[in-house]
Amino acid sequence: MSFLDKLFGRSQKKETENMSNIKTAIIYYSSGGTNYQLAKWAAESAKESGADVRVLKVAETAPQAAIDSNLGWKAHVEATQDVPEVTLEDLEWADAIIFSVPTRFGNMPAQMKQFLDTTGGLWFNGKLVNKVVSAMSSAQNPHGGQEATILSLYTTMYHWGAIVAAPGYTDPVTFAAGGNPYGTSVTVGQDGKMIEDVQAAVKHQAKRTVNIAEAIKKANN
Ligand SMILES: Cc1cc2nc3c(=O)[nH]c(=O)nc-3n(C[C@H](O)[C@H](O)[C@H](O)COP(=O)(O)O)c2cc1C
Repeated sequence: MSFLDKLFGRSQKKETENMSNIKTAIIYYSSGGTNYQLAKWAAESAKESGADVRVLKVAETAPQAAIDSNLGWKAHVEATQDVPEVTLEDLEWADAIIFSVPTRFGNMPAQMKQFLDTTGGLWFNGKLVNKVVSAMSSAQNPHGGQEATILSLYTTMYHWGAIVAAPGYTDPVTFAAGGNPYGTSVTVGQDGKMIEDVQAAVKHQAKRTVNIAEAIKKANN
């Protein structure tokens, strides 16, 4: 099978049969549940592709008083208390890493940046080189900064020496999801519900990330 066939997900059956438990960390931050849902869809898809998957949240750093003052946020924190918090060991373990974060003033939330800023030791020792990474986001407005947020995550990934597996326009599902080629993104209404139907795009992005990680792993063995 050619490399392009792998990238574009052709010969799906054969690809799945060949998949060798690509270790996939899906790391998210969410205060309202949207990015947790995106992470869960990505996890479903990665598992369908044969990957060994960990869904992990970054540590909450906001004051408890701020969380308690927002019923939706408080409920989400309580509903996800059993989701493990990501550690540096998870990053070292993973072949593929998929991030999902809400847009905050056109950037990633401080909680995710705080975690990324602890990766200096791994970076210094070359432990993040050739990780295959991809990112997703949400925002309240259709043009509220989703693309900038995803690109801000990728900026850190370039420093790691990671390989960015953006979806581009490799499958028509991207158009139906709003057409963000940098990574799947969704608009969230005032009621907290997603506007676009992005489930298929998330699943395509996750599968593609796992497929590319598989190709990179094979090439390095
Ligand atoms: C501090 C803060 C900054 C935000 N900045 C933006 C923004 O720049 N653009 C936008 O459209 N929405 C913005 N939002 C809305 C969030 O992006 C939205 O609530 C989030 O995507 C929902 O994801 P979640 O349910 O996973 O938390 C902001 C929300 C907060 C709390």
